Amino acid sequence: MPNILGAKDINKETLEKILARAAEMGDACEKGNVPQLLNGKIVACTFFEPSTRTRLSFEAAALKLGAQVLSVENGEVSSSAFKGETMEDTARMLSSYADIIVIRHPKSGAAEGAASVATRPVINAGDGANEHPSQALLDMFTMKKVFGRTENLKIAYMGDLLYSRPLHSILSLLAYYPGNELYFISPKELALPEEYKNFLKEKNVIFHEMNSLDGVLDKVDVLYVTRVQKERFEKVEDYEKVKDAFLLKAEHLKSIKENAIIMHALPRVNEIETAIDADPRAAYFRQAQNGLYVRMALLAYVLGL
Ligand code: NCD
Repeated sequence: MPNILGAKDINKETLEKILARAAEMGDACEKGNVPQLLNGKIVACTFFEPSTRTRLSFEAAALKLGAQVLSVENGEVSSSAFKGETMEDTARMLSSYADIIVIRHPKSGAAEGAASVATRPVINAGDGANEHPSQALLDMFTMKKVFGRTENLKIAYMGDLLYSRPLHSILSLLAYYPGNELYFISPKELALPEEYKNFLKEKNVIFHEMNSLDGVLDKVDVLYVTRVQKERFEKVEDYEKVKDAFLLKAEHLKSIKENAIIMHALPRVNEIETAIDADPRAAYFRQAQNGLYVRMALLAYVLGL
């Protein structure tokens, strides 16, 4: 029974299997002949943190495959977590009602805790600033779809690299492939934590750290913009100091390569000017759409279907 708690649960073979399956799911959606693989199954989507894309695309993925959905929104107030029930006890109950448990939670390690007692596969839909493996998968899928490869790519991540859980999850996946070169652009307060940098060094992945966009835009295939994660800051003053650290403006487009793409996990708050949306390099809404196909593949994968 595979769980998807973080990148550690996705080896290279699993990654490639899921990406190939996601491409099939995309084709089936377009042709309107999605296999009803999850007929008779129940997927519990339990969210203790706000979400638009992740929750709704997991639910849509389950419904498209013929499953039914148990949906917990605002779990922190709408479930017995409000009364003090632990994630572990909640997971025990979910195991007896559903076939797959999808969890988003503000606490790092919450999905891991749930999986330690659950008797059904658990998918981590984001645990605090720790990991967000399904987002990393859909980001890999998007790069593969656009470039036909996931190797020899120059990828810049800008913004909040301290708290960006999609970034924390994708590093291991990018490290499976040779020649990927990373640029990390952030204010020093939001730099990528040491543990991830040490991992990249161990894997001989070349990376550069900088605190401005200068000299990077014309080099990269992917410019991945991240939101400053307001909800993770302990002091609002610390957030205020860095919240507008980087804004991608229409005037930057002239420096970005013609065949590059701009990605963002969304929601976009104040990081990308809306004038950029009409540019063919703006890939973020297509990226979010890919999330549906990847999550369909993921639901089938955890049930061994
Ligand atoms: C991301 C998340 O929740 O970590 N969003 C998402 O899942 N699409 C990024 C973010 O909230 O900024």
